[in-house]
Amino acid sequence: MSVISARGIVKEYPYGGDSVRALRGVDLEVGPGELVAVVGPSGCGKSSLLNVLAGIDPPTEGRVELLGRDLGALGEGERSRLRLREVGFIFQRFHLLSVLTAAENVEFPMAEAGVPKGERRARARELLEYVGLGHRVGHRPPHLSGGEQQRVAIARALANRPKLVFADEPTGELDRRTGDEIIALFERLNADGTTLVIVTHDTSVAGRTRRVVEMADGVVVRDGRAGG
Ligand SMILES: Nc1ncnc2c1ncn2[C@@H]1O[C@H](COP(=O)(O)OP(=O)(O)OP(=O)(O)O)[C@@H](O)[C@H]1O
Ligand SMILES: [Mg+2]
Repeated sequence: MSVISARGIVKEYPYGGDSVRALRGVDLEVGPGELVAVVGPSGCGKSSLLNVLAGIDPPTEGRVELLGRDLGALGEGERSRLRLREVGFIFQRFHLLSVLTAAENVEFPMAEAGVPKGERRARARELLEYVGLGHRVGHRPPHLSGGEQQRVAIARALANRPKLVFADEPTGELDRRTGDEIIALFERLNADGTTLVIVTHDTSVAGRTRRVVEMADGVVVRDGRAGG
């Protein structure tokens, strides 16, 4: 079974009485345990595709199945539950809550999923240790570096043990060394069985993944596996 199966995805955004066609017919299959980089020039539709695949934004045309479930056939509540429990999403700009500590940010989606307090606490600490932030659990985002905030965002995305993780430019605002650490973290996550789709401008990131999907002007122009 595919983890992601997308067919004929078209995405149009209404724009001043007209519309922008950001995706013009994308097909994509991603199997369990894959680590996929999505690359392409600015404006080619990478974020649009990620948002559609993750069920954040519905496609204008086409069909997305996540973990064997047709997103278009689910109600809003079911779709939210699927996203909350099975999918992790890492935004480029972190979207952390600055009034909450690192640990509370990680606990947040667990609270939404009804995980009891004690378990939430323990799991948040465990996740922050996994991303190398065991010494920063009580810090709020304004008192963390960019790379540390990104790692909190990653820990939060992993809170409910998702089978599938999306990341939109996760190293975009980080220096090379910090970026490398984040990628090493994704590789470890992938080795632990998580399927990952990572949008990146960074050729050094794409160079480290087995599969690179290249987009241009709203379509996939190349879908290649390293060495084949
Ligand atoms: N909400 C929106 N309303 C109108 N047009 C949009 C909207 N979001 C994106 N677009 C347009 O859709 C196209 C694809 O945008 P998208 O954000 O998917 O590109 P991208 O590949 O992620 O670019 P970048 O690398 O700069 O992040 C662009 O031409 C963009 O201007
Ligand atoms: Mg983008």
